[in-house]
Amino acid sequence: MVQLTLPKNSKIGQGKHWPAPAGAKKVKAFRIYRYDPESGLNPRWDTYDVAVDQCGPMVLDALIHIKNTMDPTLAFRRSCREGVCGSCAMNIGGRNTLACTHGWEEVPGDAVQISPLPSQAVVKDLIPDLSIFYAQYASIEPWLHTTTPEPQREWTQSPEDREKLDGLYECILCACCSTSCPSYWWNGEKYLGPAALLHAYRWLIDSRDEATGERLDELEDPFKLYRCHTIMNCAQVCPKGLNPAKAIAEIKKMMVERVI
Ligand code: SF4
Ligand code: SF4
Ligand code: FES
Repeated sequence: MVQLTLPKNSKIGQGKHWPAPAGAKKVKAFRIYRYDPESGLNPRWDTYDVAVDQCGPMVLDALIHIKNTMDPTLAFRRSCREGVCGSCAMNIGGRNTLACTHGWEEVPGDAVQISPLPSQAVVKDLIPDLSIFYAQYASIEPWLHTTTPEPQREWTQSPEDREKLDGLYECILCACCSTSCPSYWWNGEKYLGPAALLHAYRWLIDSRDEATGERLDELEDPFKLYRCHTIMNCAQVCPKGLNPAKAIAEIKKMMVERVI
């Protein structure tokens, strides 16, 4: 897998060093990307010597500890702290993952290096601008399309057809996969990327959906779908264990089958 460490902008300078508080029993260094585009200053690495005996085991615990006790200006996203909202995705030790489910002890090396998800513009520090990513998700129209009259109760589905959605519906839209995909780095505004395509497939194989042809027509484009070269970074980094590359291959198969 390609190891990723930096977002796509600029040179990064050495920043401030924040020493551990006196009396810390166990100290771990966290090297964190800092950048405020509005400041006019270049990005920098700040190093925080964190008293890890005073915080929880996850990288997010350490970030919250830094923000609460050392440096309140550090910016990052988080919400659920349970691996279900996807908001704390970042690059930790060269790998895109969720800060709330990744232990700082799992990160190899002396220091835990943390930067925002690669290849996206930076809003501030560890917060990437995911506007394009979300627009791509919206573009696949992630809802049921039907033409037959609505049933009196709910749209039904057999257990077997429902099972086909396993491995797809669990996606939390964290963007770890898309921002680890080399094809997405190079064509991020035209290639839909693994996350949006995984969702596209989720609706294509939903037995209740009645717009399969239109959905395939929308994807029939040299860039939207066909930039995937099965490099498999997406499947390797997905914190939910999903396989977007397989979903993309299934869409390509559907494209071939409909012209035979
Ligand atoms: S398999 Fe396709 S979508 Fe996944 S990382 Fe590789 S090129 Fe990107
Ligand atoms: S497929 Fe996995 S890595 Fe990609 S957005 Fe969904 S949960 Fe995140
Ligand atoms: S805070 Fe929700 S996934 Fe990490």
